[in-house]
Amino acid sequence: MPNMNWIIQSCRLLAETARGFRRTRPFDGLTIGTAIHLEPKTAALLLTLMEGGARVVATGNLMTTQPETVAALRSRGVKVVGELTGDPETHESYLREVLDHGPDLILDNGGDLFARFVKAPYDSLLGGTEETTSGRERLLPLRDRINRPLLVINDSPIKQMAENEHAVGQSVLESFMRITNRATNGRRVTVIGYGACGRGVAGNFARAHARVSVLESDPVRRLNALFDGFAVPERDRAISSADVIVTVTGSPGVISADDIPLLTDGVILANAGHLPWEIDVAGLLKHPDVVSCTEPTEGVKSLALNDGKHINVLTDGHIVNLSGPRPLGNSAESMDLGFTLQARCLESIARGHVSLGDCVVPVPRDIDAQVARDYIALVNRQAGLPG
Ligand SMILES: NC(=O)c1ccc[n+]([C@@H]2O[C@H](COP(=O)([O-])OP(=O)(O)OC[C@H]3O[C@@H](n4cnc5c(N)ncnc54)[C@H](O)[C@@H]3O)[C@@H](O)[C@H]2O)c1
Repeated sequence: MPNMNWIIQSCRLLAETARGFRRTRPFDGLTIGTAIHLEPKTAALLLTLMEGGARVVATGNLMTTQPETVAALRSRGVKVVGELTGDPETHESYLREVLDHGPDLILDNGGDLFARFVKAPYDSLLGGTEETTSGRERLLPLRDRINRPLLVINDSPIKQMAENEHAVGQSVLESFMRITNRATNGRRVTVIGYGACGRGVAGNFARAHARVSVLESDPVRRLNALFDGFAVPERDRAISSADVIVTVTGSPGVISADDIPLLTDGVILANAGHLPWEIDVAGLLKHPDVVSCTEPTEGVKSLALNDGKHINVLTDGHIVNLSGPRPLGNSAESMDLGFTLQARCLESIARGHVSLGDCVVPVPRDIDAQVARDYIALVNRQAGLPG
């Protein structure tokens, strides 16, 4: 795995933010609780928050915790609860333990902590942030019960552009090639979901000379895919004509056992959405036509069917660029921007600058503008240009 110091050096805006926090100490006396992929880039964020005076209590998300990162965080004073797990019950116990610390701020990733906070609320919670689309969808119906400032980082135009569109596509392509060692040239790839992430995934596979189709339920986004040059066949054709299928929708059961008759022999299924529910791997495994399941190479499950056909699933349907062998996730630069937004949003809530009614809303415009200006100034300074 990349050395944590290498990643911290690559996150230059976070480093600048940490230098400022050392002076201004926005989190003095506050505990920040988080459940987020524990990997070197999130570590850079958590250490930045500590520079601002925070006590940080962290646990991971399902299957993406990196033991080296956990060890490094513990050695630097972060209270890390639990370890790598794919077991929902164990994960549940870790989440409860984070909340038992009564964090003043929550940094959520997928809504796991806020969804549990509403079941056992406490007064001292000031508010927090949610990183993902999936988390926003989960928390929107709980707004009245959360009733505190909750800023959704995913809905910042900076995160949409830098991470979801540019970085996820590069990282998913890199993960596909690293795990399978297969070429993309001429391969028929169907991308399901054409939000910012899907646009990036489709674009990167196309630039790697794959023949890309898009399956999208929203007709306007489907039209967008068509205008971007992709084939937009109807569902059965999009599934049955694919050598590779990448789901990136945020929705459950996008590919299920009902699709088995449609899938081609040797098809590779990968999920790039946040939750491991877009490909119903358990349902595929239980199907009566599946006669065996082997792991021909690390990160690939190969299901053999009684008609001789094989279906390959990457990383058990978990988020493909953050699980499996040597998962790198999105580029350090994209996460540097997204995590600086996180740090600035938490700072703003800690200082009482966000009103109670701003619950499950996008990043305030002035924070977006500040982060954009700071990043441009940093890059220009490095190039010897005026900021
Ligand atoms: N892999 C990563 O590193 C990474 C990074 C950021 C976000 N994500 C995750 O990726 C997913 C997508 O994010 P986004 O920002 O593009 O979301 P989005 O909501 O903007 O786009 C998702 C698209 O999928 C479409 N869709 C939903 N269900 C569908 C179905 N059954 N069939 C066809 N289309 C369907 C929706 O209409 C929508 O256009 C989310 O789960 C998000 O949390 C992953």
